[in-house]
Amino acid sequence: MSEPQYVGVIGSGTMGAGIAQVAAVAGFPVFLVDTALERAEAGRERIRADLRRLVDKAKLTAEEGEMILSRITPSESLQDLQIASYVIEAVFENFDSKAEILNDLGAVLPDDAVVATNTSSISITRLADCYARPEQVIGMHFFNPVPVMTLIELIRADQTSDDTVKTALAMASRFGKTPIEVRDSPGFVANRLLISMINEAISLLEEKVATREAIDETMKLGAGHPMGPLRLADLIGLDVVLSIAEVLEKDLADDKYQPAELLRELVAAGKLGRKSGEGIYEYQ
Ligand code: CAA
Repeated sequence: MSEPQYVGVIGSGTMGAGIAQVAAVAGFPVFLVDTALERAEAGRERIRADLRRLVDKAKLTAEEGEMILSRITPSESLQDLQIASYVIEAVFENFDSKAEILNDLGAVLPDDAVVATNTSSISITRLADCYARPEQVIGMHFFNPVPVMTLIELIRADQTSDDTVKTALAMASRFGKTPIEVRDSPGFVANRLLISMINEAISLLEEKVATREAIDETMKLGAGHPMGPLRLADLIGLDVVLSIAEVLEKDLADDKYQPAELLRELVAAGKLGRKSGEGIYEYQ
């Protein structure tokens, strides 16, 4: 890969900001794009706070932190990506929103740019069809918190070329992550397992089989998980958990993925987890 290579990240929420951070840490200049400049700037502020934490822990010097942050340019325009050679789309899990962005990118990006989508459950083959050069689209599924979790699920669309896979593998390792190739199937591997477990944990809570704390401790002490499934649901965001569960139920056409009623109720009440201050647990 020739340097410098601009990376574009579309979506400045938890996942987008985390991805922009690992790209900047890897030395890439990054455009962090959202629909409004204030949102993109807020994403950059989250990265600043995370880098400050690393400086406080003496894992980075203050100068290194500043240097990393200076590589990130917030933007509200896809047009800025006309010089980007690698773009990662990380907007909310909704097919129509992603399809529109991929369609718009076709008119903006250089011909040889690669487009990765961080979808957690939508078919990469369907999404690739929305981009002008579908052979240059690939799935790159990151995990939250992105700076900490080392896995990237790498998903080939039917159209993805070998060159695109090679570029994505190289980018994953530049990001300090371990890519694992999986087939384009609803929820891929990680979310089919994780979301099923979380949904079942919410059903256990709904059926009053145990308290939320007891359910979480069970999986921490009994299965060695770093956090229980209910706290994990709050970390991921209950709206995100629900939307992935709905994709699994619909696309795998199996009732066993049906979202728990309590999950629907919490999302309808705006209790989305850590990001909204309350989900299954309450946060300050
Ligand atoms: N951003 C950056 N770094 C973070 C962080 C964040 N949001 N949260 C924690 N960290 C760092 C801490 O700074 C700390 O770093 P050091 O060890 O270098 O000091 C390290 O992670 C451990 O953090 P803590 O000591 O505060 O807490 P912990 O040991 O309980 O770990 C955790 C926190 C990393 C979140 C851990 O509990 C964990 O791994 N949980 C499981 C997370 C998981 O399963 N993620 C996948 C979600 S599914 C998904 O993302 C895919 C999808 O499509 C839905």
